[in-house]
Amino acid sequence: MFVSDCLNINNEGHLTIGGVDTVEIAKEYGTPVIVYDENAIRKNCRSFVDSIDECYDGNGRVLYANKAFSCLEMCRIANDEKMGLDVVSGGEIYTALKAGFPAEKLYFHGNNKSYAELKYALENGIGRIIVDNPDELQTISEIAKESGITANIYMRIKPGIDAHTHDFIKTGQIDCKFGFALETGEAMECVRLALAAENVNLAGLHCHIGSQIFDIDPFVLAAEVMMNFIADIKKETGAVITELDLGGGFGIKYSEKDKPVSFGSYMKPVSAKIKEMAAEKDLPVPFVLIEPGRSIAGAEAVTLYTVGNVKKIPDVRTYVAIDGGMTDNPRYILYQAEYTALCANKADRPKDMQVTIAGKCCESGDLIQENTMIQTAQKGDILAVLSTGAYNYSMSSNYNRVPRPAVLMVKDGNVRTIIKRETYEDVIRNDL
Ligand code: LLP
Repeated sequence: MFVSDCLNINNEGHLTIGGVDTVEIAKEYGTPVIVYDENAIRKNCRSFVDSIDECYDGNGRVLYANKAFSCLEMCRIANDEKMGLDVVSGGEIYTALKAGFPAEKLYFHGNNKSYAELKYALENGIGRIIVDNPDELQTISEIAKESGITANIYMRIKPGIDAHTHDFIKTGQIDCKFGFALETGEAMECVRLALAAENVNLAGLHCHIGSQIFDIDPFVLAAEVMMNFIADIKKETGAVITELDLGGGFGIKYSEKDKPVSFGSYMKPVSAKIKEMAAEKDLPVPFVLIEPGRSIAGAEAVTLYTVGNVKKIPDVRTYVAIDGGMTDNPRYILYQAEYTALCANKADRPKDMQVTIAGKCCESGDLIQENTMIQTAQKGDILAVLSTGAYNYSMSSNYNRVPRPAVLMVKDGNVRTIIKRETYEDVIRNDL
């Protein structure tokens, strides 16, 4: 019925998450508030871990792409579920370490890591650094040499697959700020540099083909391209690459239009392709990693708002104004992202009102959704926007000095705060 199994409607006609009445949550914790269902998140983690274990006989690892929603509690959950973490900044590394995450299970991404970030990562015993460019390789080698350690690295490869287009395409050269191109010989050149670099161990390769992808074929094709490159590396340099990180990008349901497939449906054909290629090219089956972010946390949260005014503009549209907006969810203004919304306190009633949901910022584009159907809304209603668990809080801002909302976790009927609501004092904390 809903975009996630963690949502339902109770006898009072209220929306529930993880069995807890969202209207009660709004009353007790205030709005706007983001509410996650921990059991649903853990179920997603396990589906990935189980399918990778099954497909690679325990010879693989799932990394939670922390950028989707990073906080101490999410790091603890990922660790508890035996996952590693994809981290993309010093701040994400700091968060993970503060949560007690083992440094050797952190995989450090990014196209422009600073010297300070690289030093911080290496000094703390980071598991792998995913190298983006030759300059970075040089810096890593220098820091590792100075510290008397060996840095384990992957190289980020552009596999030349654009999965963002409706029908994915395999192009010669894709315009992308991340990683090394295969076609130009840039990737092979850097492999040679990495193999020759002091205090550096080229442990593996990485690729990531996009986000919110429902097709299986681009993932299989990416695996094929990467295995071919591993074979070329062996032929040209004699080096055998034994780890292959295939990135994230698995699609979730934001609206009825989205048709996600099960995690196993991606994993099985990809692993079959990798094993087939390994046999054909006389290579070992690599240790395989994947990096789901959105598909771990995205569909397992709702944002609750209170409706302020309802502004009917005859023959134009009806704006329903809420007490949050682009500051807690910039995805509509950025990507025209689709969302499902409803009145949580009238969830059992028909959706009979076409509205545009407007945020409270001083900006006409501050909308959450345009021309969407919800129950007839009035001041004081609780508006729920679904599937707000990924790239919402993590991309939130204090524009207009709006404090960030609280984030709650529901588990087995209990609700706890995992990130406190910001206060006005928090908003000015760095001002001098
Ligand atoms: N690995 C790498 C190297 C990535 O760059 C990303 C996402 C992921 C894994 C996780 O992808 P996921 O499984 O979450 O699709 N802000 C955008 C999404 C940006 C994705 C950035 N990279 C949005 O809100 O849609």
